[in-house]
Amino acid sequence: MRKLEGKTCIITGGAGSLGCASARLFLAEGARVLLVDVDARGLDRVAAELHSANVDIAVADVSSAEATEHYVQQAVAWFGAIDVLVSNAGNFGAVSPIASYPDQAFDTVLAVHVRGAYLAAKHAVPHMNDGGSIVITSSVAGMRGDPGVYAYITAKHAQVGLMRCLAKELAPRRIRVNTIHPGPIDNAFQLAVEQGLGGALGVDGTAFFNAMIPLGRHGSADEVARSVLYLASDDSSFTTGTTLMVDGGMSI
Ligand SMILES: NC(=O)c1ccc[n+]([C@@H]2O[C@H](COP(=O)([O-])OP(=O)(O)OC[C@H]3O[C@@H](n4cnc5c(N)ncnc54)[C@H](O)[C@@H]3O)[C@@H](O)[C@H]2O)c1
Repeated sequence: MRKLEGKTCIITGGAGSLGCASARLFLAEGARVLLVDVDARGLDRVAAELHSANVDIAVADVSSAEATEHYVQQAVAWFGAIDVLVSNAGNFGAVSPIASYPDQAFDTVLAVHVRGAYLAAKHAVPHMNDGGSIVITSSVAGMRGDPGVYAYITAKHAQVGLMRCLAKELAPRRIRVNTIHPGPIDNAFQLAVEQGLGGALGVDGTAFFNAMIPLGRHGSADEVARSVLYLASDDSSFTTGTTLMVDGGMSI
């Protein structure tokens, strides 16, 4: 029996690296998947790549309540009910000392990661089957502080608070809620971070991060997807309210 046979899943940030990797694995495990992203062309590209009748797409800004209602309604119209919600959309913002941190970047990053995950849960939960699973993609940045990364690190910590509240509210319905905390992943999102930081510090950004990771390397999107699958499926049936690190030990 496949791990998500017949399960219905929403993945936000579905046009991106981690969302696409999770979708691929979910499909292989028997799921139907609605990919949600603000990047319409990216969604078309990923849908073509996945090439499955079990994939649909929704163009939406996850920070908009109206757009969230729409993509949840699209899922309900297709699925009937939702088993798995993966809140994974993300942006990075700026790196700057606190006195000059751009307010706009702070607001935009909090809107996507925190308001986006909050709205997704708010609108999806009434349509979720009992025994379902919510996975929120936080980060190793949700477990540690670093100077200058005010918006991203604050947002990734806030997602843990949201997750813990949801885990307690939804436990009577056996809906489990967990955060996943990837470390640096070998993809374009992380590369952009490293180029920005490396340039500011005058170092090789990738080597700078590898030196902080006990396993000495970046992770792959597939390694994260396998952990998302674990939290999404009944393999983790007694796990709720937890923060699963997938970071090569960076947080220890
Ligand atoms: N790449 C890493 O090293 C890493 C590490 C830890 C955590 N994360 C987190 O993993 C998640 C996925 O990141 P990724 O590495 O796949 O990056 P990515 O840039 O490939 O994917 C992120 C996706 O989110 C979408 N998005 C951004 N704003 C949105 C909005 N307002 N509404 C809807 N979609 C929006 C983007 O269009 C993009 O497709 C993010 O939450 C990120 O913070 C990434």
